[in-house]
Amino acid sequence: MNPTDTLKEYPVWDRTTRWFHWINVLTIMGLIGVGLVILYAKELGVSTDGKIWLKTIHVYIGYVFCLNLVWRIIWAFVGNQYARWKAILPGGKGFLTALREYKAGFRSGNIQYYQGHNPMAKLMITLLLVLLITQAITGLVLAGTDIYFPPFGQTIKQWVAEDAKQTDLIKPYSKENVNEDRYAQMRAFRKPFITIHLYSFYLLLIAIILHVGAIVVTEVRERSGLISAMFTGRKVFPNKPVDAD
Ligand code: HEM
Repeated sequence: MNPTDTLKEYPVWDRTTRWFHWINVLTIMGLIGVGLVILYAKELGVSTDGKIWLKTIHVYIGYVFCLNLVWRIIWAFVGNQYARWKAILPGGKGFLTALREYKAGFRSGNIQYYQGHNPMAKLMITLLLVLLITQAITGLVLAGTDIYFPPFGQTIKQWVAEDAKQTDLIKPYSKENVNEDRYAQMRAFRKPFITIHLYSFYLLLIAIILHVGAIVVTEVRERSGLISAMFTGRKVFPNKPVDAD
């Protein structure tokens, strides 16, 4: 850094992006916390009613998480230039060169500043988004197939019902008005979804640790106010960022 340069503020994260980020953090923390208790329910001696209650709470938090995620996906089409797909997704002309240059600059100390996501961050954010979308889709299927919650719960009840006119009688963990064969078919159908939900959860834990670690290391090295930028919307740089207008 040239000591004669002064730090200048650059606006980056718009209000929607910041709200999305913190709602996302809070709901994911809630989903991980309750998800872990569901995962170890047997070891923790949780009763059947307790499990249904935990899953209901997990699904309600999941709805907030899904709506927030859908809103962010829409925002990637209409938000400011740093919120858009072009600023998020890796690839495109010059991406690999930009990635090489960014890594070389990071190592040598001749840092290339980015107002939005740097090329490494694009890879990380895309991985996180893929995992979150996977969790959202598989979670909604599980909500329907496990405790008959929307948006698929009613369809699942119709599928497993002995008498399709009395689906109201079908309750989680109860065999009332449930056809054994069709229930077994439904459980076989849901099996890959729970497997993907679980492995994607493990990957997400690793990705979150990497994401937080990368932010701390980058902030220590670049000093551009990465963390406070998710509150204020602004980063500070000694030189004009590579992706600034
Ligand atoms: C970041 C997002 C999420 C994480 C980290 C997460 C994590 C977990 C974990 C660790 C489990 C326990 C898995 C097991 O028992 O094998 C679980 C189960 C479950 N999740 Fe999620 N989840 C997420 C999103 C969602 C969403 C959006 C929904 C639905 C709206 C959902 C619905 C469910 C249901 C119904 C179960 C119980 C499945 C069963 O035990 O059969 N999850 N989740």
